[in-house]
Amino acid sequence: MAVGLNKAIVTLCAIGALAVSSLSSGQSDSSIWDGVYSEEQAKRGAITFAEVCTACHGEDLRGDSNTPSLVGVSFMFLWEQRSLAELFVKMQTEMPTSNPGSLPDDSYRDLVAYLLKMNRFPSGADDLSADPEKIGRIFIVPQP
Ligand code: HEC
Repeated sequence: MAVGLNKAIVTLCAIGALAVSSLSSGQSDSSIWDGVYSEEQAKRGAITFAEVCTACHGEDLRGDSNTPSLVGVSFMFLWEQRSLAELFVKMQTEMPTSNPGSLPDDSYRDLVAYLLKMNRFPSGADDLSADPEKIGRIFIVPQP
């Protein structure tokens, strides 16, 4: 019985160590503060945004009484601790409200990049990944 308990404890510790190591590696390779999109991508996003989204969200992205702001405190209020995959899916499945999903996936990714830029998250060398699992591990968090 004592042996059985010891075994259980060892197994639990191993699981714990695994969980901790995968958590920390997830954080180190995909923090939103590491530059997860490129300037070029944000520029493409800006063009699409001007064509499709400003009508409701405004040129300054601050929205109006009917449409939420996509920048600053109000953006962080809703999106803090949520992942870029969630933001991508939200836009892809619901925006523009008049015609959801009407843009190519690449364009929705460019729009995520543009929103990150407008919320002052840093850009990097590469475009935002097209891998849903990868961007699912990038969380919107305040500057550490
Ligand atoms: C016809 C008006 C309209 C257009 C066009 C539009 N939106 Fe929206 N958007 C809204 C409204 C209203 C909401 C709030 C309701 C909701 O969250 O579904 C919203 C919510 C959002 C949210 C979530 C905001 C939050 O704080 O949770 C995002 C992100 C967003 N829009 C992005 C976009 C993007 C990107 C485009 C262009 C592809 C776009 N929207 C086009 C009206 C619009």
